[in-house]
Amino acid sequence: MDTWRIRVGWIDKVKFEMAIQVIRPFFLSGITQIANRARGLRFPHHQASKSLNPDYSMVRPRGIANALWPRVGGRSNIALVVQRGSRVSRLLAQPPCWRAAYSSDAARSRPDVATHPQTVEINGNKYTTDPWFNVSSTVLSLTSRKLHLQKDHPVAITRKIVESVFPPPTYRYYNDFDPVVSTYENFDSLGFPPDHPGRARSDTYYINKDTLLRTHTSAHEAELFRAGASGGFLISGDVYRRDEVDRSHYPVFHQMEGARVWDRNTVPNGDLAAAVLQDLDRLPKHNMTVEDPSPPSHPDRNPLQAEHHTPEEAAAVAAHLKRSLELMVNEIFSRAKAAATAAAGAKNGTTTTTTAAERTEPLRVRWVEASFPFTSPSWELEVFYQGDWLEVLGCGVSKHELHAHASGPSRMGWAFGIGLERIAMLLFRIPDIRLFWSRDVRFLSQFRGVEDDLARLRPFVPFSKYPACYRDVSFWLRGASAAGGGGGAGAGKAAADWHGNDLMEVVRDAAGDCVEDVRLVDEFVHPATGRRSMCYRINYRSLEKTLTNAEANEMHGRVTRALVERLGVEVR
Ligand code: DAH
Repeated sequence: MDTWRIRVGWIDKVKFEMAIQVIRPFFLSGITQIANRARGLRFPHHQASKSLNPDYSMVRPRGIANALWPRVGGRSNIALVVQRGSRVSRLLAQPPCWRAAYSSDAARSRPDVATHPQTVEINGNKYTTDPWFNVSSTVLSLTSRKLHLQKDHPVAITRKIVESVFPPPTYRYYNDFDPVVSTYENFDSLGFPPDHPGRARSDTYYINKDTLLRTHTSAHEAELFRAGASGGFLISGDVYRRDEVDRSHYPVFHQMEGARVWDRNTVPNGDLAAAVLQDLDRLPKHNMTVEDPSPPSHPDRNPLQAEHHTPEEAAAVAAHLKRSLELMVNEIFSRAKAAATAAAGAKNGTTTTTTAAERTEPLRVRWVEASFPFTSPSWELEVFYQGDWLEVLGCGVSKHELHAHASGPSRMGWAFGIGLERIAMLLFRIPDIRLFWSRDVRFLSQFRGVEDDLARLRPFVPFSKYPACYRDVSFWLRGASAAGGGGGAGAGKAAADWHGNDLMEVVRDAAGDCVEDVRLVDEFVHPATGRRSMCYRINYRSLEKTLTNAEANEMHGRVTRALVERLGVEVR
């Protein structure tokens, strides 16, 4: 079986239980093993998946957490082994908010070894840094690109298509909010708890302790709710997350946020539910197949905000939300289908990049219960694409507090967030996320004229796939690892603080977009010394040319030196 090991990392028992609670409602299969590597314990397939089965709720997760921490109260090094391509592996491969519950200890990572500049300038504004600063120069240089505003760029075209489904004057568009926001805007205003893992320096780019590069466009929700300038809004913007290196993750990507608000004080007779249903009635219909098996809310899994919303109000808002987003997905995928059909026609029967089934089969979508700090109930929308369910957005009924703090306790409504690259990759069949940043005319010229005439949209024709160059780097972390039994005073600071995202960042910085992906291929703890060794495999592949061996070696040399200098590892 093709499996994938996900390192949850060093977490304590409470966090592990929290993580299990968060993921449990989403799936029951796909996780084949949960291992506590610190204690050498492994739980096999059937036990692991049973413990995540919602039908075993309450008892089993606690059971497994207890079993994984026999007699010790401390932290443990947890890994999940998941089946490749399974729902759980796909969810874990993405970076929505809840995934952060897995990622690491929040706000505990050590400052970078490398020194940082005193001030940085971003989009014309100067910021003073402090030891929280962790933005690489590569990422800083991308803050001015604004692909979502670049005429005929696939990200901008995708934004336009989304906008077309949410027309003014009900919806106002905000496309140029600055990506530098406060921790308050990004987290606190949305109700993220102070110890939420998403706040960790290992996951988020900080300018200083109170200022960061937004991790999502939701950072502007509270502000726009407060302004109350329209019944709804759409925001698009670049967002930043420290993450793995592979063909679908890049430290900068683009999101769109949408929201719709109603006010009991202004709807006829104060009947918000009736007003929402009337608006729903005015929305167009579609003929997609929609699966929506879960109830409108669920007291444990997906609660109604019962103190603030009646079940009728929440149901009406949810229905309006769901129809609106179904229409959006329908629009996007119908355009993708039309593009594929046009391309197939133009090729006159010769091989095309799309299959006949894709061009003819009806679109299927489904609603799945979810959880976000700023909505309840919450959902994700999934689309059946190339034989698999693919999550495309998160959404829900906005938390009352967001409106109440924004001086509108009589208001309620919905919000959603969608990643644009993900959608653009499907829409244009773009195989590698790095391509979006390419200035190569062979890429950009393929989308010319599409923004003003969407009927000209066609699948991207890859210009070439150049050969991969794999290079491994093996090293020891500094100090003994607590994992190796070297626990106690002074044990393994560097090993305990290790986070894979730090390495990803160094690799990106040293070799730029010539790195296609980076994978941990081996890891062990020396039984005698307790030192931790890791081996990463880096795939160097340019999107624009064939790399020579000498070029790959030179780049790998640069990467290796940077790892030693910036992370203090000892190369083996
Ligand atoms: N901000 C979330 C993310 O980045 C996505 C999201 C979920 C946005 C639910 C929303 C929402 O507005 O209601 O993963």
